[in-house]
Amino acid sequence: MVYTFPPGFQWGVATASYQIEGAADARGVSVWDVFSQTPGRVLHGDTGAIACDHVHRFRDDIALMADLGVRHYRFSISWPRIIPEGRGAVNDAGLAFYGELVDTLLEFGITPHATLFHWDSPQALEAEYGSWRSRQMAQDYADYVTVVVKKLGDRITHWMTLNEIFCFTHIGYGVGHVPEMAPGTVVKTSKEVWQTSHHALLAHGLGCQAIRAASPQPCQVALVDNYLATVPLTDTPADIAAAQAAFPLTGTNGGILYPALTGEYNPQLLADLGKNAPDILPGDLATIHQPLDSLGFNVYTGVYVRAADNARGFESLPFPQSYPRMHMPWLHILPDSLYWGVRHISDTLQRPELRVFISENGCAAQDELTSAGEVLDLDRIQYLQQYLRSAHRAVQEGYPLMGYFLWTFMDNFEWAYGRDRRFGVTYVDFATQQRIPKASYHWYAHCIEENRVV
Ligand code: NOJ
Repeated sequence: MVYTFPPGFQWGVATASYQIEGAADARGVSVWDVFSQTPGRVLHGDTGAIACDHVHRFRDDIALMADLGVRHYRFSISWPRIIPEGRGAVNDAGLAFYGELVDTLLEFGITPHATLFHWDSPQALEAEYGSWRSRQMAQDYADYVTVVVKKLGDRITHWMTLNEIFCFTHIGYGVGHVPEMAPGTVVKTSKEVWQTSHHALLAHGLGCQAIRAASPQPCQVALVDNYLATVPLTDTPADIAAAQAAFPLTGTNGGILYPALTGEYNPQLLADLGKNAPDILPGDLATIHQPLDSLGFNVYTGVYVRAADNARGFESLPFPQSYPRMHMPWLHILPDSLYWGVRHISDTLQRPELRVFISENGCAAQDELTSAGEVLDLDRIQYLQQYLRSAHRAVQEGYPLMGYFLWTFMDNFEWAYGRDRRFGVTYVDFATQQRIPKASYHWYAHCIEENRVV
């Protein structure tokens, strides 16, 4: 089997501001600064204060990206680098940094794809009104977006509003336990948690409107979501129907992806939530349900589903202990989740016209430098190869999958796991900030060059 992609398939890599930039003293404080400085929150007490020192090394990093052969780069813009207090005064030096970054990308023939929010909320807004717990956050986000798009919209035409709403809301706020992500706020009811994701959806909607209003040229607007792909255990019509029935009812799909793409929360989910459902004001759903040019799908794993003789007609299957996974507790290897995640948008949500791109896919591995100074991350290559074949299957069957951004270009600050977990195709020696391309970097370069999975 030859896994060749159609001409124009977009090969890229992805990163995020807090995870790579460093230069924390040149921007406002974010909730991740405070969270990571709180003892016990991040493994080994790591923070993103320096991270990959990318703010000072971005030219070299972009040159290395160009050598990889990617023509597309997804990065994120740090809200507190642009507006240190979250609202009000703009930091011109912050805007200038992203201006230089974008100019350099364009010089190297790489198209910039900017995510406007990848979890680093301004701490000032957390202190002032509890950030995502308040509706005000959505308005302040839209104002920040306007500032960025007015300044950079002459050179950036691919925008993403928010990254993985589930993570910074449902894992940033928790009931009965300290949640794993910033701001790490304990709340009393799960209604409060659902309210944070509802406010994030509002921010997405207002953000879409702000981008289109501020952009000086036609542009593409996307949401990036890590919805959970339900994978039929077999390809029998019964299991496929079960996976489709399970899709809106699995994880938070019915409460995040569905409102954004259909303008409605899944009714069954709302009924199940009962008094924990978020308050939805008149007009909210129309604001949230904005036309999108594409959908970014962050995919790492999924869940197997099969037909069952119960009221819902399906059951989701737990992974057994010995199921193969990569170097994160949740990273069960399920390559079909990529194919099914794309297919569900067309078939289950019935949005066959909506273009999808893989905004993130990759894995952490226990990378080690050999005495010859190499990183032979054969496990990562194996993982990537399987997921890319799944991407190829989606394209082959006619689903509108436009591109693939590998997560991630270089090892970085992996949130609660700090520098302990390495997701990069480039190894970073954090003591010296030296970049060393891993075997997977060379393997991916070859795929890009050949426009096929090698
Ligand atoms: C998704 C997130 O967007 C990214 O920031 C994170 O590093 C990867 N998952 C891996 O956990």
